[in-house]
Order: sequence, then C-alpha cells, then structure tokens
Amino acid sequence: MTGKGAQFISFEGGEGAGKSTQIKRLAARLRAHGQEVVTAREPGGTPDAEALRSLVLGGAPGRWSPREEMLLMYAARAQLVRTVIRPALERGAWVLCDRFADSTLVYQGLAGGVPVADVRALHRLVLGDFNPGLTFILDLEPDQGMQRVHSRAEALNQFEQRDTQFYEKAREAYLRLAREEPERCVVIDAARPPDAVEAQIVDAIQARTGVQL
Ligand code: TYD
Repeated sequence: MTGKGAQFISFEGGEGAGKSTQIKRLAARLRAHGQEVVTAREPGGTPDAEALRSLVLGGAPGRWSPREEMLLMYAARAQLVRTVIRPALERGAWVLCDRFADSTLVYQGLAGGVPVADVRALHRLVLGDFNPGLTFILDLEPDQGMQRVHSRAEALNQFEQRDTQFYEKAREAYLRLAREEPERCVVIDAARPPDAVEAQIVDAIQARTGVQL
C-alpha cells in the first residue's frame, strides 16, 4: 500500500472491543516518530457532527429508523471528511478514525436491514470512492464486549441496548466485510491483552506502509 490512503486508518468492531485504547496507543507511537496524527470518532469529530451524534445516539432505541440513522451518519461523515480528514491527509498527517463507513454498512445495512446496495449508493453519492487505506476490525464475542461496556461508568446509548442477536449479526457482518476486502481489512482478536492487540496493529502497518514504528 502506498500513497496518502495508507495514512487514513479506521478502527471497527463491536462495542467494548478496545478501539479507543488502541487508537490512543497508535497515535502516541506515531507522534513519538515525529508524525502528525489526527484522531476522530464517528459519529462526531466536529462540533456539528457531535451534535448529530447526540441526536442519533440519544433517546430510546427505535427513535430513528435504520434508514434515517444512515442519513444522519452520512451528514456527520460528510462534514468530518470535508473539514477534518481530507485537509489532514493533504498536509501529510495520519488520520485514525474510531469507526467510519463500515459501521454504517454493518449497523444500518447488514444488521439493520437497509439494503447494502443503498448504503453503498449513498456512500458513492456523498464521498465517491473515498475510504480508509487500512481498517482494523477488532473482533470480540458480543457478550465479552458488552461486559466491558457495562463495567464503564457511562450511561448506555441506544445502540448499547440492543439484543444479543443484533450484535451477533454485526459481528458476522464485519467478518464478511473482511473476507470481501482482505487488502484493506485486518481482523484482530480483541479478546487478547491490549499489548498483543497493539503489536498486531503495528506489524500490519509496518507490513503495508513500510514505515518502521
Ligand atoms: P460509541 O459509544 O462510540 O460506541 P463504540 O465505543 O462501540 O464505538 O457509539 C457509537 C455507536 O454508533 C455504536 O454503537 C455504533 C453506532 N454507529 C452506527 O450505527 N452507524 C455508524 O455509521 C456509526 C459511525 C456508528
């Protein structure tokens, strides 16, 4: 993998898989190597996108239909890409994103019931072929992930209150995506300790970009 796409990395997976921990670690490692790093979470990452995040994640489950959720996610994403991600990549920074378009494909599409062709069509309309160069899928048994989420102090958002079947579907959907796009997606066993997960992430980046970290 060469070029700027290599520096745009997304982290995907179920709740409680440890994405934010790994993003912090990787950001620190890249910065220690003199690299500029921009991190963002989705939905969110700009003040307006954070406002959309509260709208879409707040309230009771079922407040928005999956199709409405998809539209809100893409409104937030479009602004994040235009004002934060593209400018960062253009000046040579790395961008580490906690979730990106695969989350919509999985949560609203494959697990939520919006036809995948519709999600992909909206992506093309809004972002063309803009996508991360590398995506880490932190894979974890949904039960284990939910245990980690429940042990956090924060109140659960509406996505964290769904039934196990939804999370099982989402997990399968991520694994299917990874099989379909093996050159972009790296599946990581997130049940292992954070150091082991981090080592696999670093190896994958070194192998794909040639950058020594
Ligand atoms: P968050 O608390 O950040 O969860 P996590 O720590 O698991 O990332 O909440 C984000 C939620 O939004 C998460 O449950 C997944 C969901 N989501 C979608 O359904 N579609 C999307 O496009 C995105 C970006 C997130």
